[in-house]
This record gives sequence, structure tokens and C-alpha cells, in this order.
Amino acid sequence: MTDTENQDLRRKMVEICRRMNSSGINQGTAGNLSVRSGTGFLVTPSSLPYDIMTPDDLVEMDFDGTYVGRRPSSEWRFHRDILKNRPDINVVLHCHSMYATTLACHHKTIPAFHYMVGVAGGTTVRCAEYATFGTQALSDHALKALDGRLACLLGQHGQISLGKDLEQALWLAIEVETLSRMYVQVLTLGEPPILSDEEMSRVIEQMKRMSYGLGPEAEGSNDIARPRVSN
Ligand code: 13P
Repeated sequence: MTDTENQDLRRKMVEICRRMNSSGINQGTAGNLSVRSGTGFLVTPSSLPYDIMTPDDLVEMDFDGTYVGRRPSSEWRFHRDILKNRPDINVVLHCHSMYATTLACHHKTIPAFHYMVGVAGGTTVRCAEYATFGTQALSDHALKALDGRLACLLGQHGQISLGKDLEQALWLAIEVETLSRMYVQVLTLGEPPILSDEEMSRVIEQMKRMSYGLGPEAEGSNDIARPRVSN
């Protein structure tokens, strides 16, 4: 990565952190963000409000836990472990969004009450077991809950959303929060019916085919709409 690319990435991370707060999914000094970079990753510093954080405040870490710069996020272990174990993703976003955290405080897994649960990659958004913040135990629980998934809740804590890039991770975190809010609302009328695993497999296939929410649809990939032929 060139110096210019590194600076651009740092600037984009600061922008995404501020959008975590302005979108309402995070507040205060809660939350943290990391992006794979070079042989390690960049991670937000601990306890620094996003509105005063600058690109130079981001911490450069190696997978052995050594770092250059300010004190890294207290959650650097789960950022490190997820990036190390999930070559399919490049970004880890953690926040304490209100409704996802509401469900996490009850240790509720989000079932397939709505087809959009499929955006997290499976039939559920699991809730990881509780462990003290900043510990290896929390990282181990998070990694388990994320197996085959792009998001999870953290018991009595918050949520984690993953992405191939920063925009994707932010988009997913907002989706997880929206789904959580919907699920809390749905539960006020009682336990809802749950979509079957077969239907969710169809949903996930359809999402993959259409790059649903994860990028522009390839021209002509939808078998009903046809690309316009220009003359
Ligand atoms: P940091 O400021 O150390 O990243 O901690 C915030 C947090 O959300 C801990 O889970």
C-alpha cells in the first residue's frame, strides 16, 4: 500500500466512524472499527470521540498484537481474530446500536422472521455469549457466533458487522439495527412465524445472484429485466 493509499484509507475510516454516529447506530466513545491494511490492520484508538479523531490517530497493528501509535481499541483482540480467521472480509465494525443491543441484553438470536435476515449470510443473526469487554473470551465467543455469518449480536453488549469494504460494513450494521428494531416491534404482537431453512436458502441464493445490497447488479443478471440495447 502506498502512502497516499494509506492516507486515503485513514480518511475514509474517520468518515465512516462519524457516519456511525450521525446515522444513530453509535454514540459517545462506544464502538470501534478496523480495516485490513498491508500485513496487519488499522484500528480506531481507545476512548477517543469520533468528532475529534483525525486520520493520524488510527493505530497500525500487526496480527501478533504489537502496534504503532496511540493505545488501540480495547477490542483489538476481536478485530485481530476476525480479520485473521476470515479472509473473505476486510472490515470489522462494532457498535452499541439501540435495538440490536436491546435484543443482545436478552441474549436473543434474531431468527428468520423477515427475509432480510439473509443479508447477514444465514438463517439467523446469532447472539454471542457474554464476556467482559476487551477480553480474549469475548473474541472467542464473537468468532463462534460469526461462523458462516457477516454479523452477530454480542450478549449484553452490542453488535458486530463485517464487510469486504467500509461502506458494506456500515450498510450491514445499519441493516442489523433496522432488523433488530423490526423484530422488537414484531414481538409486541407475539412470536412471529419463522421462514423455513429451505426458503432462506432460496433468499440467500437470490441475494447472491443479485449482489443484493452488496454492490451493483451485473448487467443482465436478473433473468426478467434485460439490458437495454442502444442503437
Ligand atoms: P474502545 O474505545 O476501547 O474501542 O471501546 C469501546 C467499546 O465499544 C468497547 O466494547
